[in-house]
Amino acid sequence: MEKENAMATLIIGGTRGLGFEIGVLLAKRGSRVFTTGRSQRAIEGFTTVELPVNEKVAELQARLDTIVSELPHIDLLVFAAGFGEQGTIDELSDEHVLAMINVGLVLPALLLQRILKKQGGLKGLIAITSTSQWIPRKKEPVYTGVKAGLAMLANSVSLDSRVKKTLVVGPAGMDTGFWAGSGRDTAGMLSPQFVAKEVFKLWNEKFVYRLARILRDPPRVEVLEAR
Ligand SMILES: NC(=O)c1ccc[n+]([C@@H]2O[C@H](COP(=O)([O-])OP(=O)(O)OC[C@H]3O[C@@H](n4cnc5c(N)ncnc54)[C@H](OP(=O)(O)O)[C@@H]3O)[C@@H](O)[C@H]2O)c1
Repeated sequence: MEKENAMATLIIGGTRGLGFEIGVLLAKRGSRVFTTGRSQRAIEGFTTVELPVNEKVAELQARLDTIVSELPHIDLLVFAAGFGEQGTIDELSDEHVLAMINVGLVLPALLLQRILKKQGGLKGLIAITSTSQWIPRKKEPVYTGVKAGLAMLANSVSLDSRVKKTLVVGPAGMDTGFWAGSGRDTAGMLSPQFVAKEVFKLWNEKFVYRLARILRDPPRVEVLEAR
């Protein structure tokens, strides 16, 4: 199918897990899907763009300049990148702390800035946070801070009339590669396919800004704010 004039979606962190599942749903409905991950793996139906983020901000700035200038006009930006954390604040390395903040907060801020400067507007923004945006966790101090910050970044950006529609979603634990190597039992966690479908349903209604969470035991969706 010729998709040249189709809507274009950029999914940051769409190479696997929830971001990937959201991409599958959007592609099925005719969107062109551009997705980033740490490496450029071939994924059927998606155009993948390499965007590894670490503790170094200068590299990220330069990479984003290139990516945004080379991509076509983006209609929908989905921000789904993230990785786990396990340690009290003094146990975390400087590299980990900086990479966590760069992935979860610096990257979306710099990317939104560049997209708005280039395009003058953005039709849609979906920010995936976590229930950790509301729940303090002793062994996830930077992760929780970054997720709360991302929610507020998206909420503030949604007040800009050039950004037409913003959804912030905080899912509970999902059974994805996020937990690989953590030793955490993922049985009973939400499936990323289920969460993607719920994100899609939330997205397809009419609003300017919406904040929701997707919980488990039992699986359910709560819309907390809307305008
Ligand atoms: N899984 C959970 O229990 C859970 C619960 C609540 C919220 N969340 C949030 O949901 C979002 C999606 O998580 P997921 O469970 O789908 O995780 P996932 O399966 O591990 O996928 C994470 C995605 O982020 C990318 N990514 C991770 N670290 C990166 C880095 N340093 N630089 C660039 N890209 C990076 C990954 O790219 P690669 O392909 O290179 O790995 C991948 O595309 C994350 O924001 C996460 O914080 C997850």
